[in-house]
Amino acid sequence: MNIFIYAGSFDPVTNGHIDIIQRSRKLCDKLIVAVGVNEGKKPAFSTEEKIELIRASLKDQDGIEITCFKGLLTDFARKVGAKTIIKGLRAMSDFEFEFQMAMMNKHLAADIETLFMMTNVDYSYVSSSGVKAVAKAGGDISGLVPECIKDKIMERLGG
Ligand code: PNS
Repeated sequence: MNIFIYAGSFDPVTNGHIDIIQRSRKLCDKLIVAVGVNEGKKPAFSTEEKIELIRASLKDQDGIEITCFKGLLTDFARKVGAKTIIKGLRAMSDFEFEFQMAMMNKHLAADIETLFMMTNVDYSYVSSSGVKAVAKAGGDISGLVPECIKDKIMERLGG
């Protein structure tokens, strides 16, 4: 079984993430969407809330598992049997950091590949931090996040 893993902070999930999830799902038998738990960071949404927002955005979609992990992504990928890490790339500014992470992951696990998928041009400017900034200022986040989770995000962050 060809298992891909798509990991991120998802604080919160955006339409850009959902686009990468749906397109990468077509390239594998099973896609594991994994929320990274970083105890050093203070996210806006708890891990459980992040998972719930992703689940609500993807309801009824086969072959997608949503979960969380702590520690190294390569260790988690090995544990779940994933041989491919999928990463979304928006702009050159993403590239440098993602390139370093991919190299480090290759160093840690030579048998695991990182695949980069270019963002859909419609979402090239969309980021979780941008969504949070707009929502906190009471702005309209329509089109930036799935419609079905928009109200939940606004209830939580809306100014
Ligand atoms: O959405 P993000 O913030 O770009 O996601 C980052 C994430 C969770 C994918 C990244 O921080 C990660 O892989 N964390 C696990 C720690 C790890 O494996 N580090 C080694 C590579 S530098």
